[in-house]
Amino acid sequence: MTIPKRQFDTLIIGAGGGGLRAALQLAQADASVAVVSKVFPTRSHTVAAQGGVNAALANVTEDNWHWHMFDTVKGSDYLGDQDSIEYMCRAASRVVYELEHFGVPFSRLDTGKIYQRAFGGQSQNFGGAQATRTCAAADRTGHAILHSLYQQNIRAKTHFFDEYFAIDLISDDKGFILGALVMEIETGEPLLIEAKSTLIATGGAGQLYRTTTNALINTGDGMAMTLRAGIPLQDMEFFQFHPTGIAGRGMLITEGVRGEGGFLVNSDNERFMERYAPNAKDLASRDIVSRAIAIEVREGRGCGPDKDHVLLKIDHLGADVIKKRLPGIRQSSITFVKIDPIYDPIPVYPTAHYTMGGIPTNRYGQIVVPEKESPEVPIPGLYAAGECACVSVHGANRLGGNSLLDILVFGRAAANHIIGYLKENRYHRPLSQESVDKAMQRLTRWDDKSPGESVDEIKNELKKVMEDHCSVFRDKQVLKDGIDKVNVLSDRLTDARLTDHSKIFNTARVEALELENLMDIAKATVVSAHAREESRGAHSRVDFTERDDVHWLKHSLYYLDGQLEYKPVRTKPLTVDTFPPKPRVY
Ligand code: FUM
Repeated sequence: MTIPKRQFDTLIIGAGGGGLRAALQLAQADASVAVVSKVFPTRSHTVAAQGGVNAALANVTEDNWHWHMFDTVKGSDYLGDQDSIEYMCRAASRVVYELEHFGVPFSRLDTGKIYQRAFGGQSQNFGGAQATRTCAAADRTGHAILHSLYQQNIRAKTHFFDEYFAIDLISDDKGFILGALVMEIETGEPLLIEAKSTLIATGGAGQLYRTTTNALINTGDGMAMTLRAGIPLQDMEFFQFHPTGIAGRGMLITEGVRGEGGFLVNSDNERFMERYAPNAKDLASRDIVSRAIAIEVREGRGCGPDKDHVLLKIDHLGADVIKKRLPGIRQSSITFVKIDPIYDPIPVYPTAHYTMGGIPTNRYGQIVVPEKESPEVPIPGLYAAGECACVSVHGANRLGGNSLLDILVFGRAAANHIIGYLKENRYHRPLSQESVDKAMQRLTRWDDKSPGESVDEIKNELKKVMEDHCSVFRDKQVLKDGIDKVNVLSDRLTDARLTDHSKIFNTARVEALELENLMDIAKATVVSAHAREESRGAHSRVDFTERDDVHWLKHSLYYLDGQLEYKPVRTKPLTVDTFPPKPRVY
């Protein structure tokens, strides 16, 4: 079969904020850029980001990038790479002002400056009073950013392949990645997109869990593609549970609610966060608040008939503030649980939210792998940015408001590096037919109409296994059982078929391909979690309750065959002194 081909300077897989910020930078530099997205670009998951983007603009409280850097290192439980964190925090104000110029309709203070709200884990003066650092467009910041970036890309003539699904990366005989085989979802037709450089920006894998803030599209496609290309995934044991998902449903209720003055109560109407984080209280970092809620429920102080959640109170803020600053979460609460938070508290419980681990990169967005004596050798022409990448600015626990910042800073940085790479690599290389054939096999495997087990059934079981075996609290036996169960599901998937004939064939085929991706990510997550015998950030082991910097201040690297390696944390910042590990109190 002859597969149609298109050629571009750069292929970007994923049209969320990271992909679009990179595409814009490249298109403005006159590179020919293709963005492949399995959904219409403005439906990418960045659209769901609510509370805002961190930058030390100091519009509300005194602030500077160095305090932001300290908070991010501390929030990461010292696993974040301090060179990348310094780079990100220094760049934050610039990328936010750029957004303002791209047309992002930020909320405003009375002074006319960009509105900023308090978020968890933010401090002034290296751990002092609460800072107010999160720049917001009401509680729809991601929506505002994504739409502005899309419009700017249209103006810059970025080429979009809307509703195309990336099957696999393709390479030459020497292992250079040269684009991807993609499938047009409407027709099921394959297309080869050849590129001199490729940026993966496919977001996270929140669909690993039943209860999640993540869209159905967040299936770790880019991470799984890189694993199949022989590249390890870094720090996959660190998965963030957002403290305030709508109980039983999972939809996000932004941390901005607590930033505006909302607070959590248990069935005794007690503000229990005062016990867990005497200073920061409800604005402690997410790992701490999520664990506190889980403990309250486990110890019988949960609310509701099943005592299975806590309550988030905001009625004291008044209708005007809620309507102006938090209209989206008010609407979500009314829609999904028929509660208007102007009058009544919202039932909340921790919900899967963010993949801290991912494709290992340096601060230029280059994908790096260990080779010989060096833990980080860049792969020429191959880049990743955003949630699918692990640069690593979030370490073991991400601070709220740093994810939008990450995608903007590192999407832009990767594009700048690619611009230099393209100057040195002006011509397309010949593709390896073997790599194309292998990618095609992934696609055609689902044409098999013989009897087999249902893909949907396996997907539902996988989410339940991950929730039961790799959630907020973990221990050795529970994780070991989780590994065994995921392996059984993985074997079953090999013989599964598209059995639900009520679905459109290509939709079902995309879901099956997504499940193959999720399965590999589930293995990476649970195997890495089983191996890490300490508690750090979001990885909370009840059998190893302390952080162990002597043995575990290192990044994990998981390979497709299940092997793990480790590499050092980059503890040296670019220009300032290292923040050495300290006990983490809020
Ligand atoms: O709570 C939120 O608005 C989520 C923000 C984030 O994850 O950065």
